[in-house]
Amino acid sequence: RGIDELGDLRGQRVLLRSDLNVPLDAETITDDGRVRASVPTIQQLASAGARVVVMAHLGRPKGAPEAKYSLAPVAKRLSELLGADVAFAADTVGESARKTVAALADGDVALLENLRFDARETSKDDAERAAFAAELAELGDVFVSDGFGVVHRKQASVYDLAEVLPHAAGLLVKAEVQAFAKVLDDPARPYVVVLGGSKVSDKLGVIDNLLEKVDRLLIGGGMAFTFLKAQGYEVGGSLLEEDQLDTVRGYLDRAGERGVELVLPVDVVVAADISADAATSVVPASAIPADQKGLDIGPATIELFRGKLADAKTVVWNGPMGVFELAPFAEGTKQVAIAVSEVQGTSVVGGGDSAAAVRQLGLDEGAFTHISTGGGASLELLEGKVLPGLTVLES
Ligand code: 3PG
Repeated sequence: RGIDELGDLRGQRVLLRSDLNVPLDAETITDDGRVRASVPTIQQLASAGARVVVMAHLGRPKGAPEAKYSLAPVAKRLSELLGADVAFAADTVGESARKTVAALADGDVALLENLRFDARETSKDDAERAAFAAELAELGDVFVSDGFGVVHRKQASVYDLAEVLPHAAGLLVKAEVQAFAKVLDDPARPYVVVLGGSKVSDKLGVIDNLLEKVDRLLIGGGMAFTFLKAQGYEVGGSLLEEDQLDTVRGYLDRAGERGVELVLPVDVVVAADISADAATSVVPASAIPADQKGLDIGPATIELFRGKLADAKTVVWNGPMGVFELAPFAEGTKQVAIAVSEVQGTSVVGGGDSAAAVRQLGLDEGAFTHISTGGGASLELLEGKVLPGLTVLES
């Protein structure tokens, strides 16, 4: 159900759940992607004459206010992006929130303080969450769910509110769900998935689900070393998850049985330590020196991956190819991102680090079909899981 189906919103108080969980360096937002992605829905609601009450979380405070997790810097950024004042409430369901909401005129926007300052938001106890949702519901007439990055969480503002108020999905949630449906349900082929990131243990469910669907699986990043080791190579001081070796051998076998091309790095950029001025060299993946760590894919692997992406009609990319935050180890991620963006078909970037990499490396966001704002949420969709914050919207 979309916003249009909520009827005339003029004068209605809309409780809007957004995901504004952005990285902060003191009070400076270092990547405002999620704030920007929340804007279209806010604008649509405000121009329909709604009184928009945005709710969000920041970080993982322990159920009580903590200054470093305040959403105040986000309220400031949001008002810059909207070109309009955003009234900031200093609490979530207390006096400040009630007064702030009562003072809104049609088309105005407010942001409540971090929902996770109230322990009931994330409580495992259904009654506690329901009680918090009931207090939030007093601040609104309808509920719009647009925080795609949290739809995998069964939390009061994501799940329980939809049980007590008329509700709809916002534009971002709709766009995200459509983009993932396109690559999960009926992908055009060749279908290529590029996975990276540090740990294979974070991606087990994704690999399990995607091995059944894809034509090629390209693996880079720290997780590649557990695959290389499973193939019998020594990986020196690189990241290695010994306890996943059997699982990974199982994937290699299953890929073979299913005719999925599983492509691993053939060369790697190595250094003795992880630093911005590290002395680096490129070595074959089969000859990583014992005292070196693999920190990026090498040039031959970049070429290999480019070739495997060139004719793809559907690509999903999740996880950086190396320690892209540091210049000596950024090239693999950058070149793979460019290759993904050049695909003649659908290209979806799973959220989290890969989306951050696209922005941090200054790449053209518009060149991709979709860049997800979800980290855990997009992984769970790729795992084929049913997400509580989405199913609740269907009722
Ligand atoms: C995220 O950053 O993935 C979302 O905002 C969810 O945050 P959480 O993992 O703390 O629930």
